[in-house]
Amino acid sequence: MTETDIRFTIDGQACLAKPGQTIYEAAKANGVYIPVLCHFDGLKPVGSCRICTVRVAGRYMAACTQPVTEGMAVENAVPDLEDMRKALIEMLFVEGNHFCPSCEKSGNCELQALAYRYQVMVPRFPYLWPVRTVDAGTPLIMLDRNRCIQCLRCVRGVRAKDGRKVFAMVERGAHLTVEVDRKLAARLSEEEAREAMDLCPVGAILRKETGFAVPIGKRKYDHAPIGSAVEKGTGR
Ligand code: FES
Repeated sequence: MTETDIRFTIDGQACLAKPGQTIYEAAKANGVYIPVLCHFDGLKPVGSCRICTVRVAGRYMAACTQPVTEGMAVENAVPDLEDMRKALIEMLFVEGNHFCPSCEKSGNCELQALAYRYQVMVPRFPYLWPVRTVDAGTPLIMLDRNRCIQCLRCVRGVRAKDGRKVFAMVERGAHLTVEVDRKLAARLSEEEAREAMDLCPVGAILRKETGFAVPIGKRKYDHAPIGSAVEKGTGR
């Protein structure tokens, strides 16, 4: 512990944070897993998906945007918050068209991995089966809007060499949809296209021509459940 460390608790466990750290960052540093979907380390947090919701003094807040303060008592893995997270996951599944067994991202998908963690079986909400389109009009990337969860990671993180955004959200409300700038996307290198796919937490952005290079069963979350690396203190 240093002089500037901030003391706080998560579910009663004593933790330390560095000044400026968010609850999510400090929790991770202390080996406590808080699930995230719209958050991606290195990108400015937007707090849009609310899967990381925790409770402090009766107030609900997004752990990925809320800084830790001295003496904060954070509630995280408590039954009602965990059930709220499970409900959010279920909402994301019924709101899109997710067919995990036939998805290239299966085993690397954070939404699928969270569904396993929260033991989602039959969603409590009715399926909406929206009609959504696929954009395969760029050389290296396929954009499948059926799986988009509107986390904005691609909008924030995929940039052309001159800094322009390759992806954007258009329309509003129930019509909100992700668009790709085909001209900018056509200039992405193979590595940048791969990074765009990896940035997407689901299978909405896929790298063309390399499907199933790693067989299902040998992928990230096939080896270890989501969150287990944080709980073991070895990563995400
Ligand atoms: Fe915090 Fe999405 S991860 S709001």
